[in-house]
Formats: sequence, C-alpha cells, structure tokens
Amino acid sequence: MTLKNDSNPRTFPGLASRGLAALLAVVFAATFSGCHSTPKTQPATKTSSTAQHPVEPIKDTMTPAQRDARIAWWRQARFGMFIHWGLYAELAGTWNGKRLENHPGEWIMNRDRIPVADYKKLAATFDPTKFNADQWVAMAKASGVKYIVITAKHHDGFAMFNSAANKFNIVDATPFKRDPLKALAIACHKQGIKLGFYYSQDQDWTAPGGAALRGGHWDKAQDGSFAEYVHTKVIPQLKELLNNYQGEDAPDEIWFDTPTKDMTPELAGEIVAVLNKHPNVLWNNRLGGGYQGDFETPEQHIPAQGYPGKNWETCMTINTTWGYKSFDTDFKSTETLLQNLIDIASKGGNYLLNVGPDATGVIPKPERDRMLAIGKWLKVNGDAIYGTQPGPFTDQHGAYSTTKKDRKGNPRWVPVWDWRATAKPGTVYVSIFEWPHATFSQSNQGIYAGRYKPQGAQVFPKREWHHGEAAGQSARSNRQRPSAADRIVIDKDSLAVHAPQSAQQVQLQRHDHAVRVLEEHIVLSIDISIDYLAEPTHPATEKKED
Ligand code: GLC
Repeated sequence: MTLKNDSNPRTFPGLASRGLAALLAVVFAATFSGCHSTPKTQPATKTSSTAQHPVEPIKDTMTPAQRDARIAWWRQARFGMFIHWGLYAELAGTWNGKRLENHPGEWIMNRDRIPVADYKKLAATFDPTKFNADQWVAMAKASGVKYIVITAKHHDGFAMFNSAANKFNIVDATPFKRDPLKALAIACHKQGIKLGFYYSQDQDWTAPGGAALRGGHWDKAQDGSFAEYVHTKVIPQLKELLNNYQGEDAPDEIWFDTPTKDMTPELAGEIVAVLNKHPNVLWNNRLGGGYQGDFETPEQHIPAQGYPGKNWETCMTINTTWGYKSFDTDFKSTETLLQNLIDIASKGGNYLLNVGPDATGVIPKPERDRMLAIGKWLKVNGDAIYGTQPGPFTDQHGAYSTTKKDRKGNPRWVPVWDWRATAKPGTVYVSIFEWPHATFSQSNQGIYAGRYKPQGAQVFPKREWHHGEAAGQSARSNRQRPSAADRIVIDKDSLAVHAPQSAQQVQLQRHDHAVRVLEEHIVLSIDISIDYLAEPTHPATEKKED
C-alpha cells in the first residue's frame, strides 16, 4: 500500500500552540475478564523481489511462524534510541569558523567539501574520555527504550570500532584507542537492552570508490571502484561487526543507509550472503539492490496511517540534527516526543529517537532530560505502549480533507491530535492528549469512541473490533461483549461509568496512585480498569464471534 499523505511531526496543527499546556494522557485499560485472543501476527508476505536476487535473505526461507519469532522482540519493543556519534562530533557543526546551517552535523564533510586528508586529521584529536557505556545504557534503560542503534560507520567512513580491515578507526587512529562498541555491547548485554549497529554500506567519503550523494566526489582521493570498496571495506567490516561482538550477543540488527544505484543486486547479494550466516540479525530496508529487509524506515516523519501489514520504524531527531551540532537547540518538547511515541504505537510502529553525543562522549543534557522524561511516563503507562497492537479505532488519527489538496494534488491528510488508542488482547488503551471531555463506549455493536461535547455526545461511526481491522492486526475478543451501551465518561474533574443496563456487572477501578506530575509538564495518567464481574446477558440474536 502506498501512503501518499504523511503527517509531518514538525507541523502538527495545534501542537506548537499548545506549548507547555497540559498534556493530559489518560490511559485506561478496559479489561474484559475472561477474554483472550491471540494477537494476529503480521501477514507473511512473500518477498516479491527475492526472485531477482542472486542470494535469498534467510527470512524468506523461513515459515511464517519462524519469521514472526525472529522479529518478535523488535515488534514488542516500540521504543529505541538511535545514537549518531563519530568524528563529526568534534566539528560540532562548524568548519573553518562557518556554521553548517540546514544540514545535519554528520554531513559536514560532504556539505563543506572538506578534503579527505583534512577530515582524516580529526582522528588525531578525537579523545572522548567522558564516554561511559554503562551510563549511556542506564540512561537509555531509564528512558524506557528497549534497543539502541549506534553508528558503527557513518558516511564519513570512520569506524567507531576496532577494525583490522581498515585502519581509519577509533582504536588505530585516535588517542582514545578503545572500542566503544565493545563496551556498549557488554553494557547492553548486562542491562538487557538489544543493540544494533548502523553501517553506511554505500556512501563512504574517505574510502576510494565509496559513493557520495549530493554532488558526487569532490576529492581525487575518493575516486576508485565501488565494487572494490565493497569487497575490501564493507564486507570485511560487516564480518567484524557480526562476529567480534557475539560474546555479548551483539548485534541484534544492522541498520543500513542511503543506498545508491551503485549497490547492484549482485553486490547487495554478497552482503546478504554474509548476513545469512546470522539468521537472527534483523536488517532494515536500506541495503539497496532491491532488497526489502525486515522493516520500513520512514525518516523524520510519521506515516499518516502507518504501514499496515509491515514492520516499520520512524527514526527521528530530538532537535534537527543526527550528529552533534553545538548550536542546534531546536529541541522538540517532551509533549511532542511523547505524543509521537503514542501515535506511532497506535499505528503499529516503532519510534527510534536519536541522540547525538559530543566529542567528549557526553549525550547533551537537553536530550537526556527529554529521554528520561519519556521514561518516567512509560514507567506508569508502559502497558499502553510495549507489546501493543494498533487500537481498534481508526478515526483517531485524522482524515483526508475533502477540499484541501497536497502538493501532488491528492487529498491532504489532516491529522487530529486529541487521543490515540493501542490494544492488547482483551484490552484497549486510550491516551488522551487534549481535554475537552471524551467518551468511549462499548456496545454489543462493537466498540466505538465519541467525544463529549457540551451540547451532547458526538459519536464517531461505530467500529467493529475484530481481526483485520485498521492495520490488520487488532486484537479481538473471543467472548461476546457486554450487551449494554456502557460508557466511560472522562471529564477534567470527574470520571463516571454510565452503565444503564448492566451496572451490577461493571466495576470501575481508578488507581489514583498512577497520577503523576511530570516535571514542568503536567502529565496526568489515570489508570482505569473496568472488570465485567459477570458474563453479561446478550440478546439471543447476537452473533457469537469465534
Ligand atoms: C539520512 C542521513 C543520515 C542519517 C540517517 C538517519 O539518511 O544521510 O545522516 O544517518 O538519515 O536515518
């Protein structure tokens, strides 16, 4: 399915104006006692491109169940931390006294056409003595992320790991002389966090033959054969990354980037042959050569309706750069980041949120603060995120405008930021971003949501809650639902259950301990569970779902 209209997280209507206005996240879990169902796994799509490829990815030879098991941890995770760290952090966005504007910090060599020899000299002074793998991972863990992906080699060609294959690496070329990836692999293993390595397999601005996007090579030292570059640098280094860290069970994934036409199906196939020796290692859709990989990677945006039936992960910067820039203070607010996380989970995706450590090895404080604030929220409300499937409601995300067009002339997607829902078997979690009042109703017709307006309840079209709805993966209840139109009305100051026909069967529990004030923002979290104490009575005609 092609998604033509995406919501841009930087231009969410209404979001900026909210500023520090209270983000009211009300998460309620409606628990239907005795209702169990198995979450529908992603459909086992046959990789159509495989036929053209000289080497078939190992996952395409697996049964759907094996394939699901292989990626299960990743689907559960929902939240990861990206780390862009390399020599570019030393320049911190400034070259020859000139600030790099409008481009991310890790692109500085390319954008400023820095000669290869000059750039390589940066290694001689790269000494991140404040780097502490345990602290980074502890911070990530406290932020609630389940995995970390770190740049092992970015487009500048500098390896942040010990590499016998190429001397332009942190152990051989810097006074630091240590391998931070090793330390991270150990720390991640100790603290139970998965670890992925980002590897720029196509662009390499310091290795002869490596590709350079946005204008091509600018230094004779870059000229050479792309195939030779793949054979002498990429494949040997990938083997190092895949083999040298396994003592600590790393890596769990390889994150490729910016494929160009140079990456033919044959060359990519040689890389796939290496990856196939590590059947549990996931890899993304950016290898090139037509390979699809394990998951989609929308960058800096959240697809309007996710990618139904596919695994996907939005990667995003906290400010506007991936690699550290000393002057980029354009940080997104905690509210925005949290709403993004909830929005992504409600569409069945993962959020890979980036931090850019500086040259001393410190993750900037504004980034740490935001990550940790998200972690505090997740500590209370993590149930609504981890291991969830998209919620049963589709109206929550927005709608295509009937009058406005996007740049391509298609109906424009207009996101709505009032609330989002996620689901687990038998449970729906609703996170509310905005008062006014909200009403969520269940009836024997299915579950539907409405917004309470002072002049009366406005009910969105009813949505049956069953397999195949929305993103094709909602959970379903295998029991009949309560026959009465029980309603939960959430108001700023009160909470009420309206259960006209089955009041005796409904017990509302409100856990006030779950109310938290989060630093300067008010994040109110009310955890409500509704237990149906008895099997409700159903009209005889009601169709029983299997
Ligand atoms: C882009 C950029 C790169 C960044 C990546 C993260 O492809 O080239 O600098 O690493 O996005 O997704």
